[in-house]
Amino acid sequence: MVKKNTCIFISGRGSNLKNLIVRSRDSSFPIKISLVICNNEKAFGLNYAKKFKIPYILVNTKLKNHENKVLVYLKKYKISFICLAGYMKIISNTLIKNYQGKIINIHPSLLPKFKGLNTFSRMLKNKEIKAGCTVHYVNNKLDSGNMIVQKKFTINSKDDEKILKKKTQRLEYIAFPEAIIKIFRKN
Ligand code: GRF
Repeated sequence: MVKKNTCIFISGRGSNLKNLIVRSRDSSFPIKISLVICNNEKAFGLNYAKKFKIPYILVNTKLKNHENKVLVYLKKYKISFICLAGYMKIISNTLIKNYQGKIINIHPSLLPKFKGLNTFSRMLKNKEIKAGCTVHYVNNKLDSGNMIVQKKFTINSKDDEKILKKKTQRLEYIAFPEAIIKIFRKN
């Protein structure tokens, strides 16, 4: 099997990056992580790129046209698939046009509910019964592309934001690889 050259975009802790790196080492997993793009030089996730010897690029998203620079690197590393894993920056049309239908994101809510930030506090405030995560395609509207995989759990009355995050991330580590397998099994 020829693995798809994939780039993971991160901004922070990078636990999904780590999980995908580990999964991608399996010969039957459809992607190879060839590049990491990060917009935060202090991101803990960069340690995983270093540890697993994956090239990484730091981008300054404050610069106008920074996505043109990103595109140059994506071409250089022959990237054909992109996973946003906690990338705290909205992707613009420059990238979306060049990677139509080839960018996916993981979001910590049961989309279409709770798009955007602070999902857990809003869920608790809203007295939601279920929480979870969604892997979806990225289009030019925030957290609105077609859903690929969604996983849910029932919120316990004792769950606070921290616990909700932990339970959600546990499901993310299953949902993200599952979505990738699902995409490439179809093609
Ligand atoms: C995840 O919970 C994801 O849903 C959200 O950002 C978080 C990233 O976590 N988009 P990590 O950096 O992978 O640990």
